[in-house]
Amino acid sequence: MEKQHQHNEINRRGFLKAGAGLAATALFVPFGAAKVFGAFNAANAKTSIPTVKLNNGLPMPMLGFGTNTLNGEVGERSVFDAISVGYRSIDTAHVYGNEGAVGAAIKRSGIDRKELFVTSKLWVDFAGYEGTKKAFQTSIDKLGTDYLDLYLIHRPRGDVKGSWLAMEELYNAGKIKAIGVSNFEPRQLAEMMIYAKIKPAVNQIETHVFFQGHNLYDVLKKEAVQHEAWSPFAAGRNGIFSNPVLAEIGKKHNKSIAQVCLRWHYQRGVVAIPRSQNKAHMIENLQIFDFKLDKKDLQAIATLDLNKTQFPEWS
Ligand SMILES: NC(=O)c1ccc[n+]([C@@H]2O[C@H](COP(=O)([O-])OP(=O)(O)OC[C@H]3O[C@@H](n4cnc5c(N)ncnc54)[C@H](OP(=O)(O)O)[C@@H]3O)[C@@H](O)[C@H]2O)c1
Repeated sequence: MEKQHQHNEINRRGFLKAGAGLAATALFVPFGAAKVFGAFNAANAKTSIPTVKLNNGLPMPMLGFGTNTLNGEVGERSVFDAISVGYRSIDTAHVYGNEGAVGAAIKRSGIDRKELFVTSKLWVDFAGYEGTKKAFQTSIDKLGTDYLDLYLIHRPRGDVKGSWLAMEELYNAGKIKAIGVSNFEPRQLAEMMIYAKIKPAVNQIETHVFFQGHNLYDVLKKEAVQHEAWSPFAAGRNGIFSNPVLAEIGKKHNKSIAQVCLRWHYQRGVVAIPRSQNKAHMIENLQIFDFKLDKKDLQAIATLDLNKTQFPEWS
């Protein structure tokens, strides 16, 4: 037991050390020096979406499209619209019940699969080695693809170790281009680091102006695990779309509150996946690469942090 413990400690230290090294080389491609992901053939896409290089070298768009609650016809139409206006990264999950709709939209878009970055997530009911292998296959079958760009453990519940082992095997077999986690706290990440042979590439977590997550943000930066914000608009909660501080900043730059929020994520190096079923909003949310928040703006946004979840029902 003691020996095993020592072995784990060594692995963990090695992992953390490797993480620090990777952090130094992790490449966030800033505005202006953007490495463009895929080609844009959409009439409305006046901009290219910069990418960040994940810790395994895979480029990931800094801005993607969220699909939670977009089901059935609405889901298919929204994802189709999103791709048509220029989104190339689509975030879905087994538990959203819309992988079929997302797959149908991708097919209908006519866009080459290689130009898309498709993320799905393993739901807690399937945690463990066997469950993960089966759930992954079900997800890609529904999506009509033979690989995922990113597969995440949706929540740190159940046999995370077994799930991760299965995901490492799928990654090594070329079925997933990057593997990661979602809703993992630093403690849960550190636990994984004891046994993980492949470091998570991404941690997708609740992040918005009311819950800025500085502690986790710093840990992820240090460990070169890409921070991805879910609910980048807090799903509209706490009056975000009428917040006077954000409105004032928007007025100064001739931008909307949504654009100020997304620009804030981008300037922090955080990937954001806003959801919308409104095509005008989808286009608006892409127009964030032609302005810059200054120090004063960032200081004002820092004051909005409540440092607490806006989704207590999910805790
Ligand atoms: N890993 C996890 O546990 C987890 C949890 C939650 C979410 N997620 C992911 O994160 C994605 C985004 O989060 P979310 O869906 O909770 O919400 P969100 O993206 O924070 O907010 C969506 C809301 O913002 C509105 N909106 C979008 N653009 C707007 C604009 N330009 N102006 C005004 N309103 C605008 C949308 O309304 P309209 O439709 O009218 O535009 C919708 O009501 C999800 O879809 C999902 O993919 C992951």
